[in-house]
Amino acid sequence: MSEQTRPDLKRLFIETYGCQMNVYDSERMRDVLSPLGYAITERPDDADLVILNTCHIREKATEKVYSEVGRLRAHKERRVAEGKGMTIAIAGCVAQAEGEEIIRRAPAVDLVVGPQAYHKLPELIARAARKTGERLAADFTAQEKFDALPARAPDGVTAFLSIQEGCDKFCTFCVVPYTRGAEFSRPLADVLSEAQSLVDRGVREITLLGQNVNAYHGSGGSGFADLLRRLAGIDGVERLRYMTSHPVEMDDELIALHGEEPKLMPYLHLPVQSGSDRILKAMNRKHDGAFYRDIIARLRKVRPDIALSTDFIVGFPGETDKEFEATMQMVRDVTFASAFSFKYSPRPGTPAASMMAQVAEEAMSERLQRLQALLFEQQRSFNESQIGRVLPVLVTGDGRRPGQKHGRSPYLQSVHFDDTRADNGDIVEVRIDHATQNSISGARHEMATA
Ligand code: SAH
Ligand code: SF4
Ligand code: F3S
Repeated sequence: MSEQTRPDLKRLFIETYGCQMNVYDSERMRDVLSPLGYAITERPDDADLVILNTCHIREKATEKVYSEVGRLRAHKERRVAEGKGMTIAIAGCVAQAEGEEIIRRAPAVDLVVGPQAYHKLPELIARAARKTGERLAADFTAQEKFDALPARAPDGVTAFLSIQEGCDKFCTFCVVPYTRGAEFSRPLADVLSEAQSLVDRGVREITLLGQNVNAYHGSGGSGFADLLRRLAGIDGVERLRYMTSHPVEMDDELIALHGEEPKLMPYLHLPVQSGSDRILKAMNRKHDGAFYRDIIARLRKVRPDIALSTDFIVGFPGETDKEFEATMQMVRDVTFASAFSFKYSPRPGTPAASMMAQVAEEAMSERLQRLQALLFEQQRSFNESQIGRVLPVLVTGDGRRPGQKHGRSPYLQSVHFDDTRADNGDIVEVRIDHATQNSISGARHEMATA
């Protein structure tokens, strides 16, 4: 019998918004539901269960949820008329922040589940089917969730591993401390055993995840650098990355490790947000521009080829033209291999939202355009600087055409290269001969034989 016609098979559609934490969580939700007979479908109109894993970080992201629910309602009504039904679940940070409001505003939504309650999904779905009990689950701890979720089933040679959740930093613009709660680190032993199980299933590159991943403090006082060293000691772990980190948590030990541990990839996402000291202070970032520049200089000293990535917000309340110029200067001084930049979006309940002197939309757009033009130029020239180099590339899959493979460079670049022999998970030498803004390409480098 084909999967399509198996009566016990239910179809699950998950739409993921926001950051890598949500990408990771969506995988975990899929894993928790698969023993109940749910299999992933790519079509929301055809799904028995739809989960929107939402993001609250900017207003646009939040509004998307309500418009998507509107679209789903039409599918749901059609399916109900056909006698099939559809369960609609809202997960993620909007669920946590606005759960009650969703229940009020969107009757088509059957259940709302916050980021610490995904292990409760089977129970919530059963309740929704019986139309009894609470439709909202948002009050759990991160530890409960991690303990209750099943073992992972990774589907490639790269994987995320969540080691830390939540944030106590309270940047004045940000909702994360409210949606993800206080900083929580998973016990060291749990992280190590999850890494081992990923490797046993073919994973070669692990990206450690957390809102403030370098604030990690495991049981027994082990810090983040210590955790990285322990992970690097696992046979089969070939590459390690981490995100997102906070500049104030880049301690000496971690910076030194970038020069000592070859499995730690020479790429770092380190958000700076602004180049202006006054704005950084108003943002409550807890450091100034000189502090950030110093970290970068020290990283480059121990690992000269390290590539940097960052986040910027333009138009934070009160930002003047001159303060924006300080951000442009920061970009010119540091030079980034890639970056994300956003217009400031006032978020309900955060201190910055009630600050005076919100910046006009027009000025924000103009600043964002200028900043992005500079960042894109740096990204392209970073990619072009790889031309002529031979890079170790982790093979992740087939390329766009026959005879081509796809992989990942140490600097997190997407690489297409000519080769027929390599298997997924191999690390092969590729000579780079072409670059665009978003990727690089070349051919397998044949070692000269004596
Ligand atoms: N924990 C990380 C990132 C959190 S959110 C850190 O500390 O940097 C990801 C990015 O979204 C932030 O780095 C910031 O650039 C952006 N962001 C967060 N809140 C925002 C807001 N209110 N408006 C615009 N951008 C925002
Ligand atoms: Fe938000 Fe700041 Fe925490 Fe990052 S460090 S998650 S920007 S409050
Ligand atoms: Fe968005 Fe929540 Fe991540 S608000 S950026 S999904 S932590």
